[in-house]
Amino acid sequence: MDIDLNIVYAEVEKLCSSDSTGHDWWHIRRVTALALKIAETVNACLQLVELAALLHDADDWKLTGTETDYPNTRKIMADAGADSMLTDTVIRIIGQVSFKGAGVDTTTDCPEAQVVQDADRLDAIGAIGIARAFAYGGAKGRAIFTPQQKPVNHQSFEEYRNSNGHTINHFYEKLLLLKDRLNTDYARRIAQERHSFMEYFLVRFFSEWNEPFRT
Ligand code: ADP
Ligand code: NI
Repeated sequence: MDIDLNIVYAEVEKLCSSDSTGHDWWHIRRVTALALKIAETVNACLQLVELAALLHDADDWKLTGTETDYPNTRKIMADAGADSMLTDTVIRIIGQVSFKGAGVDTTTDCPEAQVVQDADRLDAIGAIGIARAFAYGGAKGRAIFTPQQKPVNHQSFEEYRNSNGHTINHFYEKLLLLKDRLNTDYARRIAQERHSFMEYFLVRFFSEWNEPFRT
């Protein structure tokens, strides 16, 4: 159906323009552009991919603080002229995108969700992923690193959502796991170098951390 994508771009930009948790407008722009690229390598509907990518964080619990029935997404889709069937389809895709803990299955059921999930996960790793993780940690008042606090293998979304660990743990609890949880060959290829870069970052981080204490 005909919907006004410009309205979606403008309203999402307004919604996340002041975000400082790493879920800002440029995260949305990167994920959307990358998702459209990945979509061309598989048989996914480009309109659904673009809408789901643009709106994938609009009602995310990390930003809104609650799990609600997608009020921002519903409003923006309605403003853009979408009917309830298209809106529900986009919401069904968005609902499958997020990581929910190391031990939680986030398998997707359609190519559109696979593509948006891959694009979102690629933006969580590599140099940008590192920057976003520390931005998120800072915005949520978390420490950079606390040596005595070990990573947790979260077995439920509840446990993952309520965790309050330091940001280095987030690498072990999520970021380093993502390269093996991608859906498309295109994303797996891009992920390799980004993953290696994070591993190198961590080697350097611990080396510099330990330097002052070495005898
Ligand atoms: P997802 O929905 O899969 O979590 P998002 O687009 O919402 O993906 O972005 C998640 C990003 O937010 C993470 O990759 C990370 O950069 C940041 N983040 C989330 N939780 C934490 C955390 N506990 N510590 C540090 N960063 C976090
Ligand atoms: Ni995102």
